[in-house]
Amino acid sequence: MVQRIEAPAAKTLRDGRCVTIRPIAEHDGPAFLAFGRALPIDDWQYLEDDLQRPEIVARLVNAHLAENWRQFVAVNAGGEIVGYSAVRRLPGWSSHVGDIQLLVSEPWRRIGLGTALAETIFEAARDLGVAKVIVEVLERQQAGVAIFERLGFSVEGVFTGHARDRAGRHHNLLILAYHIA
Ligand SMILES: CC(C)(COP(=O)(O)OP(=O)(O)OC[C@H]1O[C@@H](n2cnc3c(N)ncnc32)[C@H](O)[C@@H]1OP(=O)(O)O)[C@@H](O)C(=O)NCCC(=O)NCCS
Repeated sequence: MVQRIEAPAAKTLRDGRCVTIRPIAEHDGPAFLAFGRALPIDDWQYLEDDLQRPEIVARLVNAHLAENWRQFVAVNAGGEIVGYSAVRRLPGWSSHVGDIQLLVSEPWRRIGLGTALAETIFEAARDLGVAKVIVEVLERQQAGVAIFERLGFSVEGVFTGHARDRAGRHHNLLILAYHIA
């Protein structure tokens, strides 16, 4: 484990609301669980990690100092978590590749928060020394595909029926990638 010092960044969004983007911290467990529990069913069903389960949230928060992982939260003026992004360096022969996650609370969408969190995570990916970033998105997650394509990612793979949602249905999984210069 390494002690990291990453300064919180204030960000004013397109509608004038403000957030602070900072690394996830040990005390974020309850706020992060509240964030997960407030997600619309449509998102919750299609998330890789079930953010409504305390043990999953605890695992993520406990990894706040993991060397291969950078996680950030966006916090509003009331102290609520309204966005999350993460990059994790893959092991073995893909150790030059980072896997990204991005999630914004529904009432905070379409005002640039996803883009701000994506920029933060790109910086973190560079800091991790990865040369390529990927994101796994279900084909049906239109917003996820749209934002990453806009950020310059392109589809490098389609895994048929590869993801199973919380209702047991199978979905095609897209792998979008971006090669960092
Ligand atoms: C994907 C997600 C993070 C986008 O967050 P956001 O804060 O709304 O993103 P932004 O406001 O920065 O949007 C940036 C651009 O992405 C595109 N976009 C975002 N949401 C979109 C949607 N629902 N439909 C079409 N395009 C969309 C647009 O081009 C948008 O720019 P614009 O608003 O100027 O048109 C959010 O919708 C989300 O959390 N979705 C569920 C989880 C998910 O799919 N995560 C991605 C895979 S890990």
